[in-house]
Amino acid sequence: MPTATLLRVPDADALPQSFEIHPFDGPLGAEITGLDLGRPLAQHDFARIVRAHLDHHVLVFRRQRITPQQHVDFSRRFGPLMIHVLHQFHLPGFPEILTVSNVIREGNPIGLGDAGKYWHSDISYKAVPSLGSLLHAQELPSEGGDTLFANMHLAWDTLPSHLRRAVEGRQAVHSYLAKYGQMQKAANWRPTLSPDQLALVKDVVHPVVRTHPETGRKALFVSEGFTTQIIGLPKDESRAVLDELFAHSVRAEHVYRHAWQAHDLVFWDNRSLIHLATGCPAHLARTLYRTTIEGDVPF
Ligand code: OGA
Ligand code: MN
Repeated sequence: MPTATLLRVPDADALPQSFEIHPFDGPLGAEITGLDLGRPLAQHDFARIVRAHLDHHVLVFRRQRITPQQHVDFSRRFGPLMIHVLHQFHLPGFPEILTVSNVIREGNPIGLGDAGKYWHSDISYKAVPSLGSLLHAQELPSEGGDTLFANMHLAWDTLPSHLRRAVEGRQAVHSYLAKYGQMQKAANWRPTLSPDQLALVKDVVHPVVRTHPETGRKALFVSEGFTTQIIGLPKDESRAVLDELFAHSVRAEHVYRHAWQAHDLVFWDNRSLIHLATGCPAHLARTLYRTTIEGDVPF
């Protein structure tokens, strides 16, 4: 059978779709209805999506019955895709897709069951972190499983002045291993990393306050999941400042709570947000597929 890719109409010939963008009443996010990402996307429609993503930081595309290949193809329009270090949980045949799942099949987890248990920005532990991620619901639990997103522009804009003074111009260490050992002990999801995997996740350093490369807005760029230390501060002071930054970032007025609906595709900006999986009862299956777009070096 010919693949969808071969049959695809070149995007230059794509017909426009009359979709709607509904911003949420809150600190971030918008819902997109009436768009089928399984169809070729006209340049003008793509430009509307890019603009909405920069304006709202989270886009919720409802009712996307797309294949993994279509998920990858759409994601790639925003930039190169990153390959997650936990190759154990790549969707078979799609190294660009990380399976996020609590399902155990024949004694083996099919995906990362505790993904996003701490607030984080995806792949901030790399020297070139992520622009954004696209998470596509496959199977959802009947209760729980929401994802929270916090607006880090608002976190910076409203940061008390003593914290601003403490962090302005400073850098912080980001480490994939910050919570890894702890999470490994807490549940049985996380494989012991091989020497090759460890070599891919060496600690990196990023500015505590970054400038969004496309909008020029400043954002806090630290998270409890991956940020371990502010460089140039004594250890105890660094710990205290980080804890205050973490608490301030996720104040209720900065947060959008996403309650997943069947076939949602959620596209968020890792440069302006952090996010958290709230979890669901262990006996209820929850599976989503994630692609992650490479961004640029934070400044
Ligand atoms: C992720 C993640 C949160 C969730 O896939 O990057 O953090 O609610 N997931 O599954
Ligand atoms: Mn994540």
